[in-house]
Amino acid sequence: MKRYLLMLWAIVSYTFGYSQSNSAEKIYTIDADKIKAHIQPTMYGIFFEDINMAGDGGVYAELVKNRSFEFSAPLMGWKEIKEQGADGSILVLNRGQENPYNPRFIEVNSKSAAGYGLINEGFHGMGIKKNNRYHFSILAKQPETAELSLQIELVNKSGQVIGKTTVLPSSKAWKKYSASFIATETEAEATLKVLVKGKGSVDLDMISLFPQDTWKQRPGGLRADLVQKLADMKPGFLRFPGGCIVEGRELDTRYQWKRTIGDVANRRMIVNRWNTEFAHRPSPDYFQSFGLGFFEYFQLAEDIGASPLPIINCGMACQFNSCELVPVNQLGPYVQDALDLIEFANGSVNTTWGKKRAQLGHPKPFNLKMMGVGNEQWGPQYIERYKLFEKAIHAKYPQIKLVSSLGPNPDGEVFDYLDKTFRELTADILDEHYYRAPEWFLQNAKRYDNYDRKGPKIFAGEYAAQSVAIASPDNKNNWQCAMSEAAFMTGLERNADVVTMASYAPLFAHVQGWQWTPDLIWFDNLQSFGTPNYYVQQLYSLNKGTDVVPLTLNNEAVTGQDGCFASATLDNNNTHELIIKIVNTGKVEKTADFSVKGTTMSSEGTLTVLQSDDLNSVNSINEPLAICPKKNTLVIKDNRIKLTMKPYSFNIIRVSIAK
Ligand code: AHR
Repeated sequence: MKRYLLMLWAIVSYTFGYSQSNSAEKIYTIDADKIKAHIQPTMYGIFFEDINMAGDGGVYAELVKNRSFEFSAPLMGWKEIKEQGADGSILVLNRGQENPYNPRFIEVNSKSAAGYGLINEGFHGMGIKKNNRYHFSILAKQPETAELSLQIELVNKSGQVIGKTTVLPSSKAWKKYSASFIATETEAEATLKVLVKGKGSVDLDMISLFPQDTWKQRPGGLRADLVQKLADMKPGFLRFPGGCIVEGRELDTRYQWKRTIGDVANRRMIVNRWNTEFAHRPSPDYFQSFGLGFFEYFQLAEDIGASPLPIINCGMACQFNSCELVPVNQLGPYVQDALDLIEFANGSVNTTWGKKRAQLGHPKPFNLKMMGVGNEQWGPQYIERYKLFEKAIHAKYPQIKLVSSLGPNPDGEVFDYLDKTFRELTADILDEHYYRAPEWFLQNAKRYDNYDRKGPKIFAGEYAAQSVAIASPDNKNNWQCAMSEAAFMTGLERNADVVTMASYAPLFAHVQGWQWTPDLIWFDNLQSFGTPNYYVQQLYSLNKGTDVVPLTLNNEAVTGQDGCFASATLDNNNTHELIIKIVNTGKVEKTADFSVKGTTMSSEGTLTVLQSDDLNSVNSINEPLAICPKKNTLVIKDNRIKLTMKPYSFNIIRVSIAK
């Protein structure tokens, strides 16, 4: 009889599609009156690096590639074009002594009345939107007077003109000319023609096209949809400009912040280190215009309410590449750059660098509180150099917190040496990186439980679950990775007294122009989407609260028992809520009963769920919201929260509590 009933139940379940349920309800205890740690406002932030066309071709909204002819191949991105009956020639000239930062320009000799000139291919084309205004600008000079005009045409993939304007260069000296027009069509892969009409010769440089619709409508600014995605994360900090890009493959191509401020025409373009890094993803046309430079980074951080965290080169080129070192007795200019950067960010307008900041339009300080010395460095050579920076910076600016690197891995000899040494040096903040398998993230939810509470703070500066292998081109931003990051992050949150900052890396990737995957936000020339990992980061940031309280199962933190990972916080500043995060990494539905002590809850809360039944599922340009947060109300009875967790789900509960 018993066997018969069981069989019947199995048939009924199958027929009606009842989901499998783990009947054993777990009772979790939350002690809302026992604050374990305060959560820093900086806790969840952003790591920015110009990798995967994140900067040029990405968030920096310039549409023209190689606008100043400074790529190694001066005409890369450009092609000669002739209207019917036209003829002419293009010469690349170098006025090195006159302008060492932007030496090259072109001389266009037109030998007929018909249009002769060049066409620019953009960054995998140019993303153009119908009815939007575009601003064209160019530096030109006409050594000999001639009746010339420049006809500017945006063309779509079929070669039809979708926007045009005319510029009349007349000056014998270099002069900037500007014109704008409205696009008549949307096109993801437009190109830009610059045609000289009339016989004669003209010199051209800094050929540029920007949408008017940039972030905050700033001329020459940033792509609005991409910055909006960052703003929507309400990030606690913005780390910039990287990443390995800080170091350079060799010292010559390291990041030098002073070369990235002021007139864009004088910001010396250099190769992007990701240009040649991966043979499997060659990017020969990847350079750094520095149109997005240090002033813009500080401004961006301010715009999105993030604390700025610049990382400076410490006299070491990338240790995965050339390993070039500046001799210790020649580090002076590097240390000075760091000191000047602090003055640039915080100094009064009467200081040399504070004055420069004011001249760039920002008299108010940027309120810099921390700075990274070196990116992913290691070995005694790093320590030796770090000490010199630390001494000089803290002698002048004792309040600035310094971030020091613990190398590229979260364990092993290199890590242990750095960790031990920096702790002995009583360093401020240690930067740990983990690009690891999803399983590693689940196994490491307790990583910080036993860290020294009195030692340096931890910055989980770069992390991302790798679905195949570290930086494999087959890695996917799938739900398994995102879910394991969500589970791991309960451990960051539970240990918020030690871990004060965390950021996923890398941030952006162009769907055609990437070198490294996975990445948080993907985009093409017109659209962008957040990965499931993006929503995990966003949900943590928007629901971080102010204080951590214990959430336990049988008196233990929830770090994988029954496949669940959890943390609880209070928002004691604004909303007076209890916030519970619980990740069910199992493939079956589970029920949880939260017994909340030390406070009284209101009878209704909200439940936000990020979930997919398929661990391999991803978001994409066509399905940007395949996995995204879904919010519902949650009824609460008798000061207990009963939750049914879907399989493979990240659940966030918010409920008001008594003040
Ligand atoms: O995030 C990509 C790279 O990974 C960073 O540039 C570097 O710091 C790390 O090795």
